[in-house]
Formats: sequence, structure tokens, C-alpha cells
Amino acid sequence: MIFSYFWTVRARATAGWSLGLLSLLVNQPAWAAFITPTRSSQGMVASAHPLASQAGLEVLKQGGNAADAAVATAFALSVVEPFSAGLGGGGFLLVRWQKTGETKALDFRERAPLQATRNLYLDPAGKVRPGASLDGHLAVGVPGTVAGLSDLHRQSGKLSWAQVIAPAIRYAEQGFVVSDRLAAVITARTALLKNPAARQIFTQNGIPYSAGALLVQTDLAKTLKQIAQAPQSFYTGPIAQAIARDMAQNNGIVSLEDLRRYRPIWREPLCGPFRQAQVCSMPPPSSGGVHLLQILNLIGDADLKSMGWHSPDALQLMASAMQIAYADRATYLGDPAFVKVPVAALISPAYAQLRRPEINLQQARPSNQVKAADPVLLQKLQRSESSDTTHLTVVDPERNVVSLTFTINGPFGAGVVAAGTGILLNNEMDDFAIAPDTPNLYGLVGQDANAIAPGKTPLSSMTPFIVTKQGQFRLAGGSPGGSTIITTSLQLILNVLVYDMDAGAAISAPRLHHQWVPDKLRLERWGFDLMTINELKRRGNPIEEQSDWGNASLIVGTPDGKLEGAADPRGEGTAAGF
Ligand code: DON
Repeated sequence: MIFSYFWTVRARATAGWSLGLLSLLVNQPAWAAFITPTRSSQGMVASAHPLASQAGLEVLKQGGNAADAAVATAFALSVVEPFSAGLGGGGFLLVRWQKTGETKALDFRERAPLQATRNLYLDPAGKVRPGASLDGHLAVGVPGTVAGLSDLHRQSGKLSWAQVIAPAIRYAEQGFVVSDRLAAVITARTALLKNPAARQIFTQNGIPYSAGALLVQTDLAKTLKQIAQAPQSFYTGPIAQAIARDMAQNNGIVSLEDLRRYRPIWREPLCGPFRQAQVCSMPPPSSGGVHLLQILNLIGDADLKSMGWHSPDALQLMASAMQIAYADRATYLGDPAFVKVPVAALISPAYAQLRRPEINLQQARPSNQVKAADPVLLQKLQRSESSDTTHLTVVDPERNVVSLTFTINGPFGAGVVAAGTGILLNNEMDDFAIAPDTPNLYGLVGQDANAIAPGKTPLSSMTPFIVTKQGQFRLAGGSPGGSTIITTSLQLILNVLVYDMDAGAAISAPRLHHQWVPDKLRLERWGFDLMTINELKRRGNPIEEQSDWGNASLIVGTPDGKLEGAADPRGEGTAAGF
């Protein structure tokens, strides 16, 4: 599977701004067929890299539980998939304990530094400074990965902390073979090649590592060993000092104080019923759970199956539901510590019922006719309320589950490594609405609810999910892909619950996506036949056929109590079980 990435910068001279746009372009993929899932009976790890899945499996076989294996897999991914996620980023996870039936959500996402201001990325004339929220030290949010993984392990791990970090240290110290995918992203991410510390790691005298080379990350191995000794060293010890020093020397604003204050937050997951199953996902500051449940509610009890898989009617229903959800996202979603997010109203079946009549299966609506919810209506519905990315999924022999998505945002994050640490730093600040209605890297727009403020968490689309049926594990998964994450998770769930697909088919199936703005119905280029596309066009959908997106991982519990796992054929991951 050979993929090419192109990091393109589209300049919009007329509007006076430009945005970086990651697009993953492929020709007709060789894998344009449904893959067969991995099957096992005891436990399973599915992730975006074979070595990371192996790390998790190794830990499960040593007697570790889902939490141990998730931590091991996440640390391993930080080494072998350095462009997507790592110690310099953050994320979200859901963990479910089968014995108690309890599901918890952990928010270990980056926060805005204390010195961040609302207009951080604007010039004195109030115009967005191109690339400022994407490239270099100023784009970096306060990282949460180490605190999050450490919290999960401290609360629930069975094996020692050193044991779960060991595979990652091994991969960093002894090296691993660079894949086509990694080589392509190193070459494409030009900001990375300008940062001396990053150049030293990812190039040989300025020439990007090519596929097949052995990549050793000595500084990262040293950092991981320090973390294995004392995770707090990242926030108050020598690692924190190295990060703060690198920031101060390069006009960054993440300070020692920011690192010292960082805390992950345990949150109540958002759960809702769908077709006799219970779907749980991430609450704000991710928008994932809210809109996943909202779209499922809008689909409601429509008989998708009789409509036919990927029939124009089914596609129109999904696309129109997505369009409404993303309109609400742009207005209402943000960090709940800073803005009141009407979560209960947005995910209520009553709200879906009120908006479903807007959906006409025969006629798509232009996005400028699709409005965010009326605030007065939401207030009425609001009952009492509790207050380049990678996904991994683990199920252990007791059927405990961890579903974890983490990220440094764009490929190789801000393109900078904190000198001496081997840690690639995120550019998560771009997930804020850096100015009203200014699209971020993924074309998402937002307003005040997601404006920058010191200590605030940028809004995310990450949608790790766990689905149960009658108290038993049914499926869990998630994906990277920026704005498309929510709709990818949605389609994984529908493919399994409604269309009875196995994990391999559910993850392979071609995807659609609508995010309100831009007003496009995106279809994976290889996956929809001409008649369907023409019919969707006839119904008024502005179709954009695109290369594939997402890199999901998925584990499904089968009725006989066994497991099926799959990693996305769009990527290079694997599902490994025993
Ligand atoms: O949190 C978010 O929504 C984004 N920072 C996720 C970025 C992502 O998925 C990149 N991968 N393609």
C-alpha cells in the first residue's frame, strides 16, 4: 500500500488569508476491496502501526489489562508513527470496565498557554497571519499525552509503568524500519525540515529518511526513560525545562508554569441509545460525541437497511444529518470550562425530532439555508447538564475496553522538536477559531465559543467510541482525519449495527462526509458508482470526489463472544489478537 501525502498551502489572496490544507491524495487504491478482519478469542489491539499493535499485544500477553495495553500502544505509536501523535500532543480516551459496566472518559487534550490571547494569530490590522497557528513554536498548545497516559495507568494498570513503556523505549533505541507512509510525510512537511532539532532526527544530513531505512531516535529514547522513571519529569522536571527553554528561544509561549499546571480531566462520557445499543463517546471539549449522537438521532428509526446500503436515499439522509450537526458545531461547541455548551439539548431525541422535517431526501439544501439551532429552542430542551492523529482500540480477555484517539494535529504537528528531547510538538492551537469564520486546517469554522483564551482547550473532532448491547461489549473504534473523524466513526457504527458488516468490511467501506462549510458532499473517489453520484447531483448535492480519508481502527464483539479487529486499509496499521 503506497500512499502519497501532499501538504498544500492554498492562498486565498482575495480574502487576504491563507490556510494550510492537508490532503491525502491517492490514486485508485490497490486495496479497494473489503479486507478480512483479524479474529481472536482472548484479546485484541488495533492501531495504525504494526509495531504499536504488537507492543499492546505483548503487554496483554504479559497479563496486562486494556489500560496497560492502551498505554503501551500509545507510547509505541509516539515512536513509530511520529507524525501523527506523541508525547508533545494530547487526546481523549474512553475506558469501559466490564465488571461494573462503568465507562469513563479522559480528556488529556492540549490547553492554550497562559500567555495566549484571543488575537494571537492576527496581525495589527486584524488579518490572520498565514501559517502562524500551524508552523513553529507559537502554534503549540500545552501537551497532555504523558499526564493522560500516566493517569490512566496509575488508576487502572496492572503491570508496572516501566513495563508498559518498555516497547516504546526499545523502538526508539534500537530503531525501526521507515515505512513508505512515514517517508512520504517527512518529505512533504517542509516546516519540519527547517527546524534544526527535527532535521537531525528525520533526515540524514538534510536528506529525508527514505522507506526501508532504520530510524533510531536517541533523544526520544532518553526522554522515554526519564518518563519511565518519573512521569512528572515531563511537567516539572528536566523535560519540562528543556521544552520551556526551547520555547523561550524560539518565540514560543508555552512556559514552565503552563507545564506545571497541566492536569488531565476525567469526564462523564456522552451516551445515547441507537437500535437497542448504547453508544458512548467523548463530551466537549471534543465535538465528537455530541455530533455523533446528534446524527444518530437525526437518522433515528429510518429504515436505512431497506433503503439499501449507499443508496441515494440512505446517503442523502446521512449527508443532510451531518450538515445540520456541523452547523450547530460552528456556533455552539467549545471548551465547557469557558462556554456553556447546550450538550443535553443537542443530543436529545426531541431536538432531532424537531429538525428531522428539514431533511428532504429528494432535495439537498445549500448550507446557507441550514442554520444552527435556535438558541431559545435549545434553552428549552436543555435539561440539567453535567457540567495527523491516530486511534487505537484495545479489548482485553475480561472484555474491558479502551478506545483512544490522540494527536499532534497536522502532520508532524508544528514541525518542531524541543531540542534535546526528541519530542515533536503539536500545532493544536489551530483547532481554535483563530478568527470568526476563518477555516482551520480541516476547513472547520467557529465563533466565540471556540475563540482562544488562556488555559482554554481547543475544540476537537476526535470521536473515540464504545458501543455496548445488553451490557456486553459490541464494538469500539475511532479514527484520525480532522473534521471527518465524526462522520467516519458514525459510518463504522452504522456499518456494523445496521448493515451487519464484519469489522473488515465496516472499516474498508467507502465513506461520505458533509461538514456544512464548505458546502460539499464529499465522497471517496473510488467507492461510489456513477449512477449514484449522478442521482445525488440531481438532488442538488454539490459533490466533491476526493481521495480517501481517515485511518480508523475497530474491534467488534461477535455474538459467540469472540473478537474481530481491523485497522484501516487506507493506512498501514494492523489488528493483532490472541
Ligand atoms: O482534534 C482534532 O479534531 C484534530 N486536531 C484532529 C487532527 C487529525 O485528525 C489529523 N489527522 N488526520
